[in-house]
Amino acid sequence: MAETLVDSNMPIKVGGTPIVKLESLSNAKTDFYAKLEFYNPFGSVKDRAAYWMIKDGEENGLIKRGHTIIIEPTSGNTGIALAGIAKLLGYKVEIVIPEKASEETKKIIESLGATLYQTSDDLCPKVGAGTDQSIALARSIASARPDKYYSPNQYANEANFMGHYKGTGPEIWEQTQGKITHFFTGVGTGGTITGIGAYLKEKNSNIKVIAVQPQQNHLIQGLRNFEESAKPDLFIKRETVVDDWITITNQEAFISVKDIFVKEKMLVSPSSAAVYTAMKKYHIESGCAVGIFADDGRKFKSLYTQQKIFSEEEFESALKNSKHISKVQTA
Ligand SMILES: Cc1ncc(COP(=O)(O)O)c(C=O)c1O
Repeated sequence: MAETLVDSNMPIKVGGTPIVKLESLSNAKTDFYAKLEFYNPFGSVKDRAAYWMIKDGEENGLIKRGHTIIIEPTSGNTGIALAGIAKLLGYKVEIVIPEKASEETKKIIESLGATLYQTSDDLCPKVGAGTDQSIALARSIASARPDKYYSPNQYANEANFMGHYKGTGPEIWEQTQGKITHFFTGVGTGGTITGIGAYLKEKNSNIKVIAVQPQQNHLIQGLRNFEESAKPDLFIKRETVVDDWITITNQEAFISVKDIFVKEKMLVSPSSAAVYTAMKKYHIESGCAVGIFADDGRKFKSLYTQQKIFSEEEFESALKNSKHISKVQTA
């Protein structure tokens, strides 16, 4: 069931995303499914966190429409989601983003009216307090004007967890009629894996939760490698829901981007391709596996052409012919 902010002039519907069978992975013993989070209104799984954090901020009197400026460090999708949702509700938004994030991502955030600050962080900052420049800059701007600024702080905000515990988890359980045996997702803040993982394990403690991690020094926007990046507080709080880790290289993810387009007719993001690769590599005797496809490939034309996965023409054709694609415009 989609969640709706009913008191807005333009109701925002978050969640209720479809699940599709991955025929290229399914076999006689195991069904594989992708949960297509790019069907959220601003094109990614992070619409859920943004929606729930804004709702929580309003309910607890932390933010006021027409007054508060929302500021947040993000590697992309949370920025798009906050900018999109907050704009409709009457908030100003400022986003702090690593310069390595895709140009398309930055353009979308700006086209939604948010102010953008760029830092020289890697997509995945190195371990240690104070080394993540995006987080540090957002904090210093916000702390100078606490009456005006509010940072939802997705890395520690319980509402981020709740969106998945109350939304995505139950959706997956119902969409698989309780048959799910293996759950795969990437980890950024940990909201997705802990929220969905905790809910599913309450329903059936035998369900395996597998965290998909990119290689060190990676190009997978939205995900973190915890050998080079500190674990967020939100993740640490419930990290015991994770049964297993699987590491995917940039190369493996990029090969899968092409593969998924050829075999499933879907243009997906590097992180969705990493999840697909993990589902393909992980040994499953039999059962029902579900993976989170957090966003689609629309924002990655520059990356995919630079990495020679698609030529510009091939990319445009894939975008046009993709069976599933978000509505968020990049230009
Ligand atoms: C692009 C992208 N962003 C974010 C996430 C996960 O987000 P989080 O751990 O912050 O809930 C994923 C997970 O697959 C992702 O692929």
